[in-house]
Formats: sequence, structure tokens, C-alpha cells
Amino acid sequence: MYQIRTYNSISVKGLDRFPRDSYEIASELPNPDAFLLRSQKLHDVEFPETLKAIARAGAGVNNVPLARCTEQGIVVFNAPGANANAVKELVLAGLLLGSRDIYQGMRFVDELEPQEGLDPLLEKEKKRFAGSELRGKTLGVVGLGNIGSLVANMGLDLGMQVCGYDPAISVEAAWRLSSRVQKMDNLNSLFAKCDYISLHLPAIEATKGLINESLLAGAKPNAVLLNFARGEIVDKQAILDALNEERLHRYVCDFPANETLGHPKMLQMPHIGASTAEAEENCAIMVADQLIDFLENGNIRNS
Ligand code: MLT
Repeated sequence: MYQIRTYNSISVKGLDRFPRDSYEIASELPNPDAFLLRSQKLHDVEFPETLKAIARAGAGVNNVPLARCTEQGIVVFNAPGANANAVKELVLAGLLLGSRDIYQGMRFVDELEPQEGLDPLLEKEKKRFAGSELRGKTLGVVGLGNIGSLVANMGLDLGMQVCGYDPAISVEAAWRLSSRVQKMDNLNSLFAKCDYISLHLPAIEATKGLINESLLAGAKPNAVLLNFARGEIVDKQAILDALNEERLHRYVCDFPANETLGHPKMLQMPHIGASTAEAEENCAIMVADQLIDFLENGNIRNS
């Protein structure tokens, strides 16, 4: 009987894949063959001797101590692409939040008391919430993997000009990417050219703090920066400075931090990019299939 120890937020539909007569699945199991988790950080978790695999129901694996897994011969699975559409759709919301005063206008309406003369008041105040259109603007996509390539193609569908930068694009992602996406040689030229910049990079050593002061100093004035990738890839102080000095128009992100809470030019969400019923189910099913194939047949695959 295999033991699978689960951590937070795993879709029940994914767990249904494990044949009940061969698998015990619970959050407390003494001798787990595998861990199955979503965003739980494992850096301080001790690995039992029985552990053979860790399956992360999502794309990023920065919550898993990969070096320790390699040392101890523990296989790590993830779910590349399984939640890409959910993230892409939230980037669409992010682009609109960056270009229109949707959030500010709705907060204004929410805070109104019922009153005589509501219509004239709305007519008068709506001038404060005028925005601009995405069509005709330039979108820069940094990282052209599963999510970035979908976002780049979506930008074209919105009538935007799209530039992309990725030093190591996979063959599959390159196939999916429209030939109308202009490939940039470096990040500096992308930042200098784009009205909207959307980040789709993993949090690895090479990307930590990559979006820094010198890059932002050369950004197109009033650009909107979107981060639905990971908080670690940006230098938060550099972003705060660029917003406070009115060089950046807005920062829309899925990774709030203590030092950025309440900033009027930051639109921050609680890491919900992959939080749709469909994405959660896709991720859980993808990692469940990989785990079963590994435990029962010894196969190691990553899709
Ligand atoms: C991912 O890395 O794919 C997301 O962070 C998934 C999640 O929100 O669980």
C-alpha cells in the first residue's frame, strides 16, 4: 500500500485518480512514499527515509528544496502548463486594471451612501476615472514559456504590438508563439520600448531581483509592470521608487509584501493566478498521473 502525504489545497478530483486499494492518502502518514502539495514551503520540513517523490501541483518549484532532493535521490514532479490558461486570464484582468481605473472607480461607488442626486454625482466624478485603451499599445512579455507564450498571443488578439524576451525558450513554446511576436535581444530594449511589461519567469537564483533599479531606470515613462510570476524576481524597493517618482504608472501583482501593502499605485492580489476550479483540477490530475506512473512503473515524466 503506497502512502501519499498531502499538503494544502489539492483538488479532490486529482486525488480520485489513485486506486483506493493501493493508496492511502492523508495529511498525516508516518511512512510516506510521496508528498503531494500545492504551495506549502518544504524548506524546513524533514524528509522521512521512505520518501521517494514530491509532486507539486503547479508550475513553480521554488517551495521545494531541490538541492536536498537531488542529494537524497527524491524525484520532484510539477505540472507545467496545467494552470497556464488561468494565469493568462488573470493577466488579462491585470492589463485592464493597469489601463483603466476599474478598481478605483468601483471602490468609489462602494463607499457611496444612498443619496438624492446620485446620477449627477456619478456624472461629475467619472472624469477622475478615465483610462486608456490597450489596443495599439506595446506589450513586452518576459519569459516565453507555457504562460508567457499564451500571454503574448493574447496581447496580439487585443490589438497590441507584442515583444518577447526569453534567453531559453523551449521548442514547444516557440511553436505555440505567433510569428508576429517580435523577439528582443535583451531586457533593456524590451523595457525601453513597452507600455505594458508582463513577467513570466521562474524564481531561480538567476532571476532573483532581476527587475532592478537599472532596468526600471531605462523603462518607457509611465509603463505598467505586471508580475504574475513570483515576488522574488523583482527588487521591491526599486519598484516603490519608480512608482513614487512617477516613472512607472502602476504595478499589478499577485505577490503582496509587507512593505508594499496599501500603496495607491500597486494593485495586489493574494497569489490567485492559478486559483480556478479548472486549473486546480488540471494540476492535481497531471501530478497524480505522474506519481502513479512513477510509483507503479518507475517512469519519470514531466507532463
Ligand atoms: C504555480 O507555480 O503554478 C502557481 O504558483 C500555482 C499555485 O498557485 O498553486
